[in-house]
Amino acid sequence: MQKLVVEGEKRICGEITVQGAKNSALPLLAAALLAKGETVLHNCPKLSDVYAACRILGCLGCECRAVGNTVWVKADAPEGCCVPDELMREMRSSIVFLGAVLGRIGECCLSLPGGCELGPRPIDLHLSALRRMGAVINEKHGVLRCECPGGLKGADIQLSFPSVGATENIMLAAVLARGDTVIKNAAREPEITDLAGFLNRCGARISGAGTDTVYIEGVRELYGCEYKVMPDRIALCTLMSAAAITGGELSVREARASDIGAVIPVFDQMGCSVYTYSDRLFITSGSRLYSAGTVRTMPFPGFPTDAQAMLMSVMTLAKGTSLIIENIFENRFRHVPELVRMGADIRTEGRAAVIEGVSRLYGARVTASDLRGGAALVVAALAAEGVTEIHDVKYIDRGYEALEKQLCSIGADVKRVSE
Ligand code: EPZ
Repeated sequence: MQKLVVEGEKRICGEITVQGAKNSALPLLAAALLAKGETVLHNCPKLSDVYAACRILGCLGCECRAVGNTVWVKADAPEGCCVPDELMREMRSSIVFLGAVLGRIGECCLSLPGGCELGPRPIDLHLSALRRMGAVINEKHGVLRCECPGGLKGADIQLSFPSVGATENIMLAAVLARGDTVIKNAAREPEITDLAGFLNRCGARISGAGTDTVYIEGVRELYGCEYKVMPDRIALCTLMSAAAITGGELSVREARASDIGAVIPVFDQMGCSVYTYSDRLFITSGSRLYSAGTVRTMPFPGFPTDAQAMLMSVMTLAKGTSLIIENIFENRFRHVPELVRMGADIRTEGRAAVIEGVSRLYGARVTASDLRGGAALVVAALAAEGVTEIHDVKYIDRGYEALEKQLCSIGADVKRVSE
């Protein structure tokens, strides 16, 4: 087990390049299974979840090699259709392989993804859509057995909720299906647009990605291509939060402001100044932060649920009262008790968190219990008086590439220590 030891009260200052997006790299790796020949993905973050996805591809008969931030995949002759249980458990988002395996191989067996730290993670929208496309899916003792005799066929699908994962799975299943598929009430997240961009470069015919209606025309086969993963918009929000809470100033290269359109106004309201350019973003923070008012998490283009925890850390030092309503996940306040241990004044009631700004935070021994909650603890520790120990760093490593190195390069004092 490892922990991060943070010496607080160091201003974040300087310039950094934001990492590639975890939540795009994973569906792109699943999509690589659909393409013959070689796929080369650049700007892949070096994360445990990415390596788990590579191992899944290996189990499906693909050659997969990760060197630095580049991943090569060869999927000329996939074999087998089962995703091992331990890999499904290691990475809940492995469910996104279901659509790709069905699309390329025609059958699939995998264990139901467990719930995760954020609460139950149902996949009913994924399964009902794939059944409409002709998949026969049986669930028994936690195992999904799926087959589509005669191959998948295009369908009109109306999602009751704009699920990111369900939208991705349907796209992955539809690109090689017979006929056309329409996804209504589709997720509009930038990762959907990135996936469509990759698939189209492989020869797919997808339009409407990024809107609430996505059209996919089934084609006979796809060929591997070279592609660069989009920048990680949540890692960007994390870096901005680090600058904001420490009264710092930060230039972030390869930042796409259009991916965080609902987040920038919150930083503005708290007294930061954010300047955006085509391929970078600059944020400065004054000596005092002010209440952010009310922030509600929503599907894109609303405020992203993944940025909620880090912004809450900033709000703990903002003068006045801030309110967060978490509309996406039912258990996404697990970082609150840990922030309170550091001196924050936060009360939660169901999906609402009321944050009363305090004058300072204090270093403490805290424990991460999920990816973004762990990142929030790091952000708070940067501003806290004294030393903070953050345990269970494995959660943070799922989504951030050597976060301690990133932060030390811009003025922080963070050490990774084996326990
Ligand atoms: C993706 O998860 C992201 N993960 C999450 O990021 C992100 O928080 C989420 O989208 C929302 O933006 C990856 O991309 C790997 P959803 P996903 O399907 O696809 C309910 C992080 O920290 N739902 O849009 O699982 C579900 O319970 C992670 O990087 C159903 O009810 O999100 C949740 O309440 C955390 N039935 C809501 O929809 C379904 O079949 C959003 O889920 C599917 C989802």
